[in-house]
Amino acid sequence: MKNYSSLKKLNSECVECTSCNLSKTRKNVVVGKGNESAQVLIIGEGPGEQEDITGLPFVGRAGKMLDTALSSVDIDPLEDCYITNIVKCRPPNNRKPSAAESEACMPWLNEQVNLLKPKIIILAGSTAVQSFLGINEPISKIRGQWIEKDNIKYMPIFHPSYLLRNPSKNKGKPKWLTWQDLKKVKKELNSI
Ligand code: URA
Ligand code: SF4
Repeated sequence: MKNYSSLKKLNSECVECTSCNLSKTRKNVVVGKGNESAQVLIIGEGPGEQEDITGLPFVGRAGKMLDTALSSVDIDPLEDCYITNIVKCRPPNNRKPSAAESEACMPWLNEQVNLLKPKIIILAGSTAVQSFLGINEPISKIRGQWIEKDNIKYMPIFHPSYLLRNPSKNKGKPKWLTWQDLKKVKKELNSI
């Protein structure tokens, strides 16, 4: 994998990638969006239908949920964050990316991290945690606790799609827990 001098260069090459089978069924490669100088990088699983159509991550229902969750702790999704996914092309029928697909796509993500140099990485859902950190614990067990590695603080959270399926805001429920987790992120961000 090459080292890119800028995210712009990476983007222009990534949109041509054919390193795995997902290139055959995608409409658009979804590289990322947000502020390239942000301290926070958010990593989801992979593009869904709306993302595949628009070429932008987290623009569908899960994206709206993510925006709402971030805004509730006064984190601006596009100003304070850069947002991407483990795989840059939509898996057919929104299935989980295979291990081979995640591996094939990882050089792009690693290079994004090198260029962005985020202080904080939010890992949304177990696919992101498993693929990026190699941790196989259920997300319900590891969410909300900082993991520190190579001078980056990682915060695992529930995937926004899971919050769509669990809409209760009651104390102890997934949405409430995610709110607590993001408050920790906001506090850390304020201290940087
Ligand atoms: N779900 C994800 O994990 N990523 C997106 O970009 C959209 C939905
Ligand atoms: Fe390339 Fe990643 Fe798309 Fe596969 S998912 S074709 S590795 S950009």
